[in-house]
Amino acid sequence: MVRMFEPKPIPGDVLDRVLEVARHAPSGGFSQGFDFVVLTKPDELEWFYRTTDDPTDPEPFPGRDGQSAPGCIVLPFANKSLYLERYAQPDKIQFGLNKEENWPVPFWTVDTSMAIMLILLAAVDEGVGAWYFGITRGESEVMRELGVPSACIMLGVIALGYPSAEETPQGSTLTRRRRPFQEMFHFGRW
Ligand SMILES: Cc1cc2nc3c(=O)[nH]c(=O)nc-3n(C[C@H](O)[C@H](O)[C@H](O)COP(=O)(O)O)c2cc1C
Repeated sequence: MVRMFEPKPIPGDVLDRVLEVARHAPSGGFSQGFDFVVLTKPDELEWFYRTTDDPTDPEPFPGRDGQSAPGCIVLPFANKSLYLERYAQPDKIQFGLNKEENWPVPFWTVDTSMAIMLILLAAVDEGVGAWYFGITRGESEVMRELGVPSACIMLGVIALGYPSAEETPQGSTLTRRRRPFQEMFHFGRW
């Protein structure tokens, strides 16, 4: 994750390539239930930071220091309705997944998470820095003001921009070790 950015906009063609990959994320029943709201205009970004920054949260938050704020915010939404509609179709209705309560795992959040990861990886390929983070304030206001359907679930925030030369490693990777391969992968059984 990159948390400090240059005040330099991402060219439209670069941003389009980074976002386009999300269309290729896998999805249950090829439902493709992920939607994104993309904010790039200064007034949109300023509004978003103002609405969602929780001053009591000591974690880094974009926009607190105007100099290092990212130039693009992508809000990923898991679009549950598209799954319930897809699984009501003749080839899927037998599974009973046209009802939300029958989903053991809500694949709309799984698939949207995969789409998010594709955007993070595509950003790296384009030399763009990406920061994924959660918000603790303003989510319902953001959804209301942006006209997001209420069945959608906001799965955090992706910030994109060119990394600042002043960027230094921050966050939990400084204090926690990466779990070893042998500890994580349980060949044969746990
Ligand atoms: C679900 C999720 C939530 C996260 N929330 C935040 C956050 O609120 N603020 C933040 O600065 N980083 C956040 N991160 C980034 C993690 O801290 C970061 O991915 C992790 O420490 C590994 O560092 P790396 O991605 O730079 O390798 C989040 C990552 C994930 C996957």
